Amino acid sequence: MPSTSPPGTKLQCRSVWKLFGEGAGAALAESGGSLTSEQLLSAQLIGAVRDVDLDVREGEIFVIMGLSGSGKSTLVRCMSRLIEPTSGEILFNGENLLQASPARMIEIRRHQMGMVFQHFALLPHLTVLGNVAFPLEIQGVSRRTREERALKMIELVGLEGREGFFPNELSGGQQQRVGIARSLSVEPEIWFLDEPFSALDPLIRREMQDEFIRLQAVLKKTIVFITHDFDEAIRLADRIAIMKDGAVVQIGTPEELVINPADDYVAEFTLNVTKSKVVRVGSIMKPLPKRAPSGGYGQDVAASARVAEVAPLFDDSSNLLRVVDEDGGPAGCISRDDVVRVMMQA
Ligand SMILES: Nc1ncnc2c1ncn2[C@@H]1O[C@H](COP(=O)(O)OP(=O)(O)OP(=O)(O)O)[C@@H](O)[C@H]1O
Ligand SMILES: [Mg+2]
Repeated sequence: MPSTSPPGTKLQCRSVWKLFGEGAGAALAESGGSLTSEQLLSAQLIGAVRDVDLDVREGEIFVIMGLSGSGKSTLVRCMSRLIEPTSGEILFNGENLLQASPARMIEIRRHQMGMVFQHFALLPHLTVLGNVAFPLEIQGVSRRTREERALKMIELVGLEGREGFFPNELSGGQQQRVGIARSLSVEPEIWFLDEPFSALDPLIRREMQDEFIRLQAVLKKTIVFITHDFDEAIRLADRIAIMKDGAVVQIGTPEELVINPADDYVAEFTLNVTKSKVVRVGSIMKPLPKRAPSGGYGQDVAASARVAEVAPLFDDSSNLLRVVDEDGGPAGCISRDDVVRVMMQA
């Protein structure tokens, strides 16, 4: 299978469009492959996904964020071809999924993709064990093997002891865990989660996020995670794509979005973020002065540390801290004023 994606890329979207409405494909083709908002409106088409280009890298948590109706669910469904894109390319491990046969697509979805849907449903007549083992049953895995693997997943999401319960005997958060365990049972290469925690109350939601971070530290999956909650996005994401009206307006690390929002729409999301908890020392450090300050440097700090973490390290005797890179080599310095400036920005 020829790989046309850059190394380390798991999934790529190239100029992906999904239009709803009659004659969408023809209208897009006629226009030469691109329609403006005005053209869509006059053709009575809905631009659910508009010209999206993005790469999801091996092992990262890639978050897609945007207001309700911005096209997140449609885009993630296009990635597994549960929704057929109107045009564009989806490359998975370098293979163009839009050219894959229906049988090949079923095989890929069953064996290589895990999905947790926004409004997921457990099978009410099956126990926790039955639900989690269900995707393996579809694969034709023997009962013994699938139950063994399902029990492992149930333990992983913290539901051991509850494998014999039925869905209606579980809380919302517990049901969500079953959905997560179920999507993991096939050991997917890529894991799509569409707002998996949005129905949960804030405390449980935070708990689930913590657990998700813990799970990912063990599993190291390639993840596409959808949310409309920016706080959730910056807690979980390696990188975030921000969607608006079907288009991706910015892709970056949480820090890049907070420091350099591309437009007012992105800036609005970052308004209530405590900048010092997101911004890393490395992005605001200055070059080391030629001569060390008379009082010397305080303690060394890592370039990857957050500004809020290093603030307490300034004491009466130190106004300047030396910043070191991953290998412990000198990378720059950070002053008390630099830190105060970030801390003042909410
Ligand atoms: N089957 C469909 N037919 C027509 N329009 C659709 C269809 N599915 C989605 N849309 C429209 O496409 C746009 C994007 O919808 P989508 O469900 O992808 O948004 P979303 O970002 O996931 O929103 P939410 O946060 O509410 O889940 C919306 O305007 C929606 O009304
Ligand atoms: Mg959605």
